[in-house]
Amino acid sequence: MKNIIILNGSPRKGGKTDSLVKAFSAGAQDAGNTVKEFYLNGMNIHGCLACETCSTKGGICVQKDDMAEIADAFETADVVVFASPEFWGTITGQLKIVIDRLYAEFHKLGWTGVLKETALLMTARGDSYDQALDFYGIFTNMLAWKNWGTVLGAGRENEARELGASIY
Ligand SMILES: Cc1cc2nc3c(=O)[nH]c(=O)nc-3n(C[C@H](O)[C@H](O)[C@H](O)COP(=O)(O)O)c2cc1C
Repeated sequence: MKNIIILNGSPRKGGKTDSLVKAFSAGAQDAGNTVKEFYLNGMNIHGCLACETCSTKGGICVQKDDMAEIADAFETADVVVFASPEFWGTITGQLKIVIDRLYAEFHKLGWTGVLKETALLMTARGDSYDQALDFYGIFTNMLAWKNWGTVLGAGRENEARELGASIY
């Protein structure tokens, strides 16, 4: 059974992305996994300063904010789920900031030492997710994380629940 964290980048609690997150989470927990969701919009997390302190000082980040909570959870997570509505073709700023800040974690743990598993949950008004999938490819292709799957589209709660339940 896996330790799963969900990085929920939707600013709308109770919205369409949130609904996929809830379904995924229910499926994953029913299957015996541990799930912790981070609702990023409610957290105090600032953008990466590109000071490169983390790259020269073993992953130490100079910023003291709520990212520390996510960083701790990231270190012990087996599965990192990215959830976001599509904004201007890609993920929201809330989620992008957190992914940028994970840069420090890669410097702490080593780029090849962070072998996580992952999944992507997204909704959009339209039906093109190409840019977001390119971005997701950084994890699934470049970093070789195991991809459990993607759920792309509002109203796909059953698919999201099944994806969560498929994780073992
Ligand atoms: C700032 C902003 C940008 C958006 N950009 C896109 C877009 O590029 N493509 C698209 O299909 N939908 C776009 N949408 C629509 C949302 O992705 C869509 O309504 C989504 O399902 C909302 O999810 P939520 O209920 O979790 O907030 C945008 C919405 C906002 C507010």
